[in-house]
Amino acid sequence: MISNTRVLFSLILLSLSTIQVLSADSNSSNPYILSCGSSKGGTDSDGRKWSSDSQFISGNSTTAKAQYQDPSLPSEIPYMSARIFSSSCSFKFSVSPKQRHWLRLHFYPSSYNNLDKSNSYFDVTANGFTLLKNFSASITAQALTQAYIVKEFSLIPIESGNLNITFTPSSSHNNSYAFVNGIEVIPMPELFQTANLVGFNDKTIDVQSSTLQTMFRLNVGGQYVGPANDSAGLSRTWYDDSPYLFGAAFGVTSQAEKNVTIQYSKNVSDSFAPVDVYKTARSMGPDSKVNSNYNLTWVFQVDANFTYVVRFHFCELYLTKVNQRVFDIYVNNQTAQQDADVIIWAGKIGVPVYKDYAAYVKDQTGDDELWVALHPTVSMKPQYYDAILNGLEIFKINDTRGNLGGLNPVPSQMLQDAEAAAAGANDPTPRAAGSKNKGLVIGGVTGGAAGVVVAAAVCFFVYHRKKKSHESGAGAWLPLYGTSTTITSRKSGTNSGSTSHVSSLAAGLCRHFSLSEIKHGTKNFDESEVIGVGGFGKVYKGLIDGSTKVAIKRSNPSSEQGVNEFQTEIEMLSKLRHRHLVSLIGYCEEDGEMILVYDYMANGTLREHLYEHDKPPLSWKQRLEICIGAARGLHYLHTGARYTIIHRDVKTTNILLDENWVAKVSDFGLSKTGPNLQQTHVSTMVKGSFGYLDPEYFRRQQLTEKSDVYSFGVVLFEVLCARPALNATLPKEQVSLADWALHCRKRGTLHEIIDPRLKETLMNPECLKKFTETAEKCLSDHGLERPSMGDVLWNLEFALQLLGHPGEESVVTEVKANDAYAVQNAAVAIEEESSTAGVPVDGLTNSTVVFSQFMNQQGR
Ligand SMILES: *[C@@H]1O[C@H](CO)[C@@H](O)[C@H](O)[C@H]1NC(C)=O
Ligand SMILES: *[C@@H]1O[C@H](CO)[C@@H](O)[C@H](O)[C@H]1NC(C)=O
Ligand SMILES: *[C@@H]1O[C@H](CO)[C@@H](O)[C@H](O)[C@H]1NC(C)=O
Repeated sequence: MISNTRVLFSLILLSLSTIQVLSADSNSSNPYILSCGSSKGGTDSDGRKWSSDSQFISGNSTTAKAQYQDPSLPSEIPYMSARIFSSSCSFKFSVSPKQRHWLRLHFYPSSYNNLDKSNSYFDVTANGFTLLKNFSASITAQALTQAYIVKEFSLIPIESGNLNITFTPSSSHNNSYAFVNGIEVIPMPELFQTANLVGFNDKTIDVQSSTLQTMFRLNVGGQYVGPANDSAGLSRTWYDDSPYLFGAAFGVTSQAEKNVTIQYSKNVSDSFAPVDVYKTARSMGPDSKVNSNYNLTWVFQVDANFTYVVRFHFCELYLTKVNQRVFDIYVNNQTAQQDADVIIWAGKIGVPVYKDYAAYVKDQTGDDELWVALHPTVSMKPQYYDAILNGLEIFKINDTRGNLGGLNPVPSQMLQDAEAAAAGANDPTPRAAGSKNKGLVIGGVTGGAAGVVVAAAVCFFVYHRKKKSHESGAGAWLPLYGTSTTITSRKSGTNSGSTSHVSSLAAGLCRHFSLSEIKHGTKNFDESEVIGVGGFGKVYKGLIDGSTKVAIKRSNPSSEQGVNEFQTEIEMLSKLRHRHLVSLIGYCEEDGEMILVYDYMANGTLREHLYEHDKPPLSWKQRLEICIGAARGLHYLHTGARYTIIHRDVKTTNILLDENWVAKVSDFGLSKTGPNLQQTHVSTMVKGSFGYLDPEYFRRQQLTEKSDVYSFGVVLFEVLCARPALNATLPKEQVSLADWALHCRKRGTLHEIIDPRLKETLMNPECLKKFTETAEKCLSDHGLERPSMGDVLWNLEFALQLLGHPGEESVVTEVKANDAYAVQNAAVAIEEESSTAGVPVDGLTNSTVVFSQFMNQQGR
């Protein structure tokens, strides 16, 4: 254990020192990593050092601190301080004349010196190139539902060696000002040459002599890779590709086996992408017939009237021979490459290659999207009809006038309504104002916030109302697009007769059922098929396609509330896919009916296996595993997407169990609606989640993901003690399980309230100690003192280890555990990925080196 932690520590040190080596290297310029408006600079959560920008600025500017720290900011540095410009002003850097540079601009739109953030529009230029034009960080952040924005550019070498970055407030807006929170100027090797323009024979684009803007950078089939884990000290960020996948055909993800090492070549060094990108991939799936009938497709929202270079990163991880996997690559419906065979390009397994293709995106209505698709080349008769992709980058190329600036996005109507609703939620304090912040997606608030949800999951689609009709070339298992779904300007809470409430993307991602199919599957909503009843309506057991068991939730058609819930649930669930979240199969919207179709959970709710039903008791191990599963689901909601999603109603009836006792979190986005946020809070309380409610949320009306952690703490004690969170029939001090359990723990009498049926099963003291400690921490009065869901998960896994290996506690001492725990926290947040095939420990990343080794060591 200790040696493992040391390994990781030294890995971290090593990667830090590589950065230093790189910067000291030859006569290349140093990287500049500046926290703007900060006098001393500081260190961010990745351990990167940021210095003050004051010696690089010329012209009039002021500095300011942000008044509110959004919980989704990764760290205070560089976002909490800003440099503000009311007139044109430049940063001057001395750089190596022969070298390309990454320029990263960090923006956190907030209230600085009481300036109105919605007044800020500005241009940014760098040595003759316009990088941003009439840019509003506030509108962009709103449209992307992010608290902060990073814009990355790759600047062509600057012969003079003097890099000037100029911020100019827009003259077309009154009281406009410019601001910036962080600037990085990082020397980079020349990574570009030329790219073939798709759709033209032999026409190439000279990428090397252009300045580029990074639009997307994805670790396809893999996890988020943060700046600290990028290769060659280039501090890029690689995101999970799944939000960009089109349709329900997600393909499968895979990871290199242990015996496959990634070998860089003289053509492709680690400057192109880190090992983490090459060792994970997405491919089409095991079924040749299915694969030959669909395209594995990603869709990106881009600015029209620009040329883009699309870089495909490949590395074969399983196959070794030529013509085993051959595929065609399409960019914007044009063939970019026929007969792609990674083994031919790379020479062998484990060797990375990349390919660049350029495409011009015209400004036609509905055409400001970039489509990337892969399809097996059937005519080559390869051994497998399959395709593979490991990484994808999309760069915008400057136009002929040296411009890169696009238009500000138009946030969706619902998003604006949500903002307005939140702003109108009469709490003038800056804190409360923050609680409606963009980085945060709240699981189902008002209809307006349903919009936030849509935008979060599918930001690249939101302001795109017109849908092209896409023909589904595949068989019946693929979703049916278009037909009954017309897209309206979904105003919150408008139930306008025949129009659909489902966004085009969500409609494309899940299946649409006809009412007759649903009626057939539920014996015309027969009462005997009802398996649950709630404020929203009834849940039926049903059959689709003749034999597939499903749960069918039929909303009460008359309620306006139902419309909002319906939207929220579809929009969220259609994009969030995870082993530990209940999955949505489809929906039906016909005749005023709003019906959702889910996976059937054969074993019902967790609660019914704990008390008040005469079911055989779950063993301790089973309970622990269920808690771990639910924790994974919640952890995914909090961190797995690029946005924090808060469940808001974590309880034992919202943790469902499938036929294999796999726990799945359900009902996010349900039963929490109301005309404004304030009322929503009230309705949440009234609706019976008392006993689980975070006291801090109650006091301050400020919602964070730690509210879910609190509720989960109650769930843990419920599982341990097998009694309801609230039981009014008990003596006063025992009514609330949270209070009573903490009280008993303090007095050392917790063993007296543990479910007596557990005494029969395997349950050793160390395991119990870890479990109760974790539960207690979750119930800390202040959110800040509560562990993150990732920490909770880690501790529960640890408890399970202790259970499986009683007596080994002399080897795995508490001290060592804490070591690993600390490293794990400091090093990397656990990022989860849905349905990752081939990952040894389900859902947990290889990025937490210590953790997975620890798991293996324990022989799990
Ligand atoms: C693209 O160019 C056309 C023709 O110059 C122009 O009409 C259109 O507004 C431009 N679109 C954008 C998004 O800049
Ligand atoms: C895949 O995409 C290409 C290019 O857009 C298209 O011509 C082809 O029909 C698509 N194939 C399927 C099966 O959808
Ligand atoms: C980008 O700008 C450079 C310098 O102004 C110019 O030479 C090049 O042609 C531009 N690229 C494109 C694709 O127009």
